[in-house]
This record gives sequence, structure tokens and C-alpha cells, in this order.
Amino acid sequence: MSERFRALLAERGVPPGGVVEHHPALASTNDRLRELSRLGAPEWSVVVADEQWAGRGRRGHGWASPAGNLFLSALLRPSLPPSAASLLPLAAGTAVSEAVGEWGVEAALKWPNDVLVGDRKLAGILVESTSGSSGIDSVVVGIGLNVGLDPRALGEPLAGLTTSLQRETGRSADPLELGASVLARLAVWYHALGDGRGAAVLDAWRARSVPWWGREVEVRSGPAVLHGRAEGIDEAGSLLLRSAEGELLRVLSGEAREARLVPS
Ligand code: BTN
Repeated sequence: MSERFRALLAERGVPPGGVVEHHPALASTNDRLRELSRLGAPEWSVVVADEQWAGRGRRGHGWASPAGNLFLSALLRPSLPPSAASLLPLAAGTAVSEAVGEWGVEAALKWPNDVLVGDRKLAGILVESTSGSSGIDSVVVGIGLNVGLDPRALGEPLAGLTTSLQRETGRSADPLELGASVLARLAVWYHALGDGRGAAVLDAWRARSVPWWGREVEVRSGPAVLHGRAEGIDEAGSLLLRSAEGELLRVLSGEAREARLVPS
């Protein structure tokens, strides 16, 4: 079953040599790949599933994972300085946005890497890393991309906040082909980071960012809820937030939304 996906990856020039697994169903592709990583799987090992029964999102949320969509995880073992490694989540979002562009969908990125069409989420990315004494040991990049999903099946409030490739284009697409496109683009940005071209990753991300600079946003980062004006991202991919007191905060990770969407 994995042979077809392996062939698609090779066709798109995704770096070879990793374990490739395609499962009809899994609890979570990130969990399976983390297990393979612990067993020593090489970089560019990839796990894809047709559906997940315990898909995980960011900040402890679940990820609805019915068949017909893309559930994909890729293993990287970067030997990058921390400031470049911190750009990997942005590189992954950029890769997804570029891949759906090949299918005619113009998707924007909301820091750090939500992939949106208008106000609706098309794809989400969960990046999970482990470190050892000599630095980063593994980075699992998990991508959930709504391909054939009818958002109405999710019920409210998610239905109104979600979109899919099918909803945007009226056409169906093969999740595995999209997965291969995403990984091909991720490989390009990953190599740029390895070559010290983090600035190119930042430029590509900024070019696709939602245009909310100068606007008030709310960021949940760990247990903290931060408010301020979004001013941009710095060279490490941190969100620059100007507090009401005029202090410039650098937020390394979190979940951001425009403050106007916050119910009073
Ligand atoms: C988010 O909350 O926006 C991130 C969602 C990430 C979901 C993907 S689906 C493939 C991979 N396996 C998981 O369990 N989660 C990620």
C-alpha cells in the first residue's frame, strides 16, 4: 500500500531513504512517526493515513480526521542553529500554502502556520520536537489538510470556521498527490535553512501572511494570554507584539487571533 505513495514522493523529488508508511487508518500519524523516530528511523521518514481516530491538533485540541483528507507526518533531523530550526514551523506552513496553490487555491498563513482561505481554516500543522544532549534530535511535522471535507459535517461552530479544497474549487483531489507536493516544497525550504538562507524562508512566509500587521491580536502562549498590536515576525520567526504599554514582546510559539474576533 505504501508503494504508490513512495512513487509519488520520488516523482516530486522528495529526499529518498526514509521509511514510508501508508496506513488505511491510524490513531495519529504524528504518534506513529514519533514511535518510528524513537526506533531510529532516518530523516524524511513519512507516515500518511487515510483516516485517523485520535488526530491531534495544537494546544491539546483534537483534529477531525475523516477519510478523503490528508493526514501526513514527516520526520526531520535538522542540524541547524536554534534560530534556523525555529523557522521550521513557518517553512511547513509556506509549503502547504504553495502546494494548494498548485491546485488553484490561494491560501494565507496565520502565524505561526495556520493555513486559511479568508477566515476559514484549510490546514493545520503540528510540529513536535525532541532534543538530546547534542541539540535537536527529531522534528515531526504533522500536516492535516482538508481535501474532500464538507465542513458542514463538523457541525457548528467548526463548520463556519473550516474549509476544504473541494469547497474552494468544486473539484476533488487525491490527498496523496497533495501530500507529495507539500513535502516537495518542504524539502526546498528545509534545504534553504540548511544553506543559511533563513531570510528566504521568512520572505516567502511574509509574502503569504494574512495582512494583519498593525492590528490588535490576542495570543495564547502556554498559560499566558497576551494582547497587543501585531508588528511582524523577527528573524527567528517569533511574533512581534507591541503591548498597550509600548513594550515589544517576542512570542516564540502560541495561537494568535485578531482581537476583534474575541467576544466581549
Ligand atoms: C492544528 O491544530 O492546527 C494542527 C493540526 C495538525 C493535524 C495533523 S493531521 C496529521 C498529524 N497527525 C496528528 O495527529 N496531527 C497532525
